[in-house]
Parts: sequence; structure tokens; C-alpha cells
Amino acid sequence: MEFYMPTQIYHEAEAVRKHGEEMAHTGKKALIVTGHSSSKKNGALKDVTDSLDKYHTAYIIYDKITENPTIESVMDAAEIGRREGTDFVIGIGGGSPLDAAKAIALMIQNRDSASSVLYQNMALRALPVVTVPTTCGTGSEVTPFAILTRDDLQTKQSISHRIYPVIALVDGKYLKTAPESVLMNTAIDALGHMLESYFNSKATDYSRMLAQYALEVWGMATDILFGMEAQEGDYDRLMFASTLAGMAITHTGTSIPHGLSYYLTYHKGIPHGKAVGYFLPGYLDSMPESLEPQVIMALRAAGFGSLEQFEGFIKEMLGTIPVTDQEAKEMVEEIANNDRKKKAVPFEITKEQIDKIVQQAR
Ligand SMILES: [Fe+2]
Repeated sequence: MEFYMPTQIYHEAEAVRKHGEEMAHTGKKALIVTGHSSSKKNGALKDVTDSLDKYHTAYIIYDKITENPTIESVMDAAEIGRREGTDFVIGIGGGSPLDAAKAIALMIQNRDSASSVLYQNMALRALPVVTVPTTCGTGSEVTPFAILTRDDLQTKQSISHRIYPVIALVDGKYLKTAPESVLMNTAIDALGHMLESYFNSKATDYSRMLAQYALEVWGMATDILFGMEAQEGDYDRLMFASTLAGMAITHTGTSIPHGLSYYLTYHKGIPHGKAVGYFLPGYLDSMPESLEPQVIMALRAAGFGSLEQFEGFIKEMLGTIPVTDQEAKEMVEEIANNDRKKKAVPFEITKEQIDKIVQQAR
């Protein structure tokens, strides 16, 4: 077994301000990468800029990252970062800005390279990346992944380079102003990371330890998802569960539900977490009998009494996938031909089983 987790994590109230000095001294000039508005509303951007000001570190802000970031926006930001002489990148937000920050850090460091190097297997370094997550799904604050939209392949895919953030500043307070739909979608994305990592051919005792504890922590914070009032510590627990799940998928990657989700996001514009969630019950249902006790145990850890109850929760929260017979066929075909995602399944999965997972979500 191996276990590697080089990101320095500070998870606490006011993490950014408390560790502002370390963040600011990561370099001399920061490129802050974020979305258009949420990091302004939840206060994360101000926490970061106040700290940089306090320790006299220069910065510029690139706030044009949209959901499912494109290679063009990465290149646009990298061009600005190069021109401005930035020597580190701070990503603030959900998965999109954090993933984009890593790809941008790579493209600033490799200033003469074209965007094609993002998906080439070659050893390249990136500028240091600091992450400040403001949603509870991605885990990108600790993963080495950077998932971008690939219009050439009509899907989403992680770049070929593993870029671990140097520092992750994690604080549940940023979730308090998140819209309910964002909380729900991102919490389900994190749940997908836990389950797809736990039931994964690459799972080890270390990764399962992370996934299992993430499920327990997640299960303690679900009041918010059911529309009930948040209990003290719930936002922090959702954030913690998502970071733990990020560490779990760092070691295993994701599996069939994530693979299928990219079709729905690319072709139907369905948010990532929601698109993943539809397929989770079917994925668990496809497990062989020998893994059934573990399926029950994982679901119980997350607060579900049975697979039926979990399926009911998913259907109630997300509904069913809006695809035609032809589109369903295309989705199945795409994953049946995706050896990487199929290899992540802890048993030999057939095309019929993939089809069943899709049909179960309809
Ligand atoms: Fe995900």
C-alpha cells in the first residue's frame, strides 16, 4: 500500500486569516482565480485579499471562471498571469475555480507551451497553488486533479498532470451563504466521491479509512440537506467530509457514476453533483453479493437504513435523468468503451450492468 498527501491542510474557523502569513509568503505576486460572484458574497475573496495586503504580497484577480471551466479560460487567465509576473496561484470557490487554478498554474510555469500540453503525458511542473474551498463537494482543495471541459471530445476530463495544492485553507463558514441547491449538489458530489472510492478496484485500507470516516461525518450533517435548520458544526462537517472524500479519491479516482455524469453535464447542462447522484444507487446495486455487507455498512455510515431508502432519497432530491432512449444508449456506449472508468470498478462490469445503472436512474 502507499499513501501520499503532500497538501498542508488548515481546517478551522478563520483558517485564511489565521494562516494568512503562510499563504502570502508562498510567493511574491499571486494570481487569484475565482468565479464571478460567490467568493465575494461568502467573504472568502476578502479574507484572502485582506491577508495578502496585510503581509504586503501583491496580487491580481481573475474572476471569470465559469462552471465546467474551458481550456480557453485557463489559457486566458494564464496569459494574464504570465504578463503580470505572478509566481503563485490562489484558487477560491467550488471545483471549477480550484481545478482551473491548477491548470492555470501549470500554464503560467510553462510559458511557451500550447494548451495541448494539458493533456499530454509528460513531466511538467506548476506554480504553487493555494486553495480555499467554498462548496462541500469537490475535494479539489486536496486532490491533484483538474477537470476541464474538452469540446474536442464533448466531455469533461482531468488534465494529465497531477498538481497537488501546497496549502488548503478550509473553513465551513463559507457554506453558510451558499444557495440550497449548491449545498445539495455539492454534498451529493462528495457522497459520490466517498462511495466511488470505497467501491473501487484501487481502494486500499488507507483510502477506505478516509472514505468510511467521510461517510460518517457526512451522515451527521444531513439535516441541512433535508431542509431542516443547521445544527452547530453542520457546515463544518460537510466541508470536512468533502475534504476527506477528496483525499480518498486522490488515491483511487472515481468510477462509473462520475463517468456517466459527464455526458449529462456536457450535453444537458446538469450540475456536476446532481449528475453524479442519479447513478449512485444503481452503482451500489450492481455490486456482487460478496460486497453487499459492505454496501449496507457504507450506507448506514451515511445515515441510510437500506439501499431502497437511499434510492428513495436520491429520487426525491434529484428526480430522474432527462434523457431519450437514444441518449441513454449513447451514455452506456461511452462508458462501455471507457476502460479507465471500467477498471475502477471492483469487479468485471458488463455493458448490460452499465445499461441497468442508467435505466435505474430514469
Ligand atoms: Fe465529483
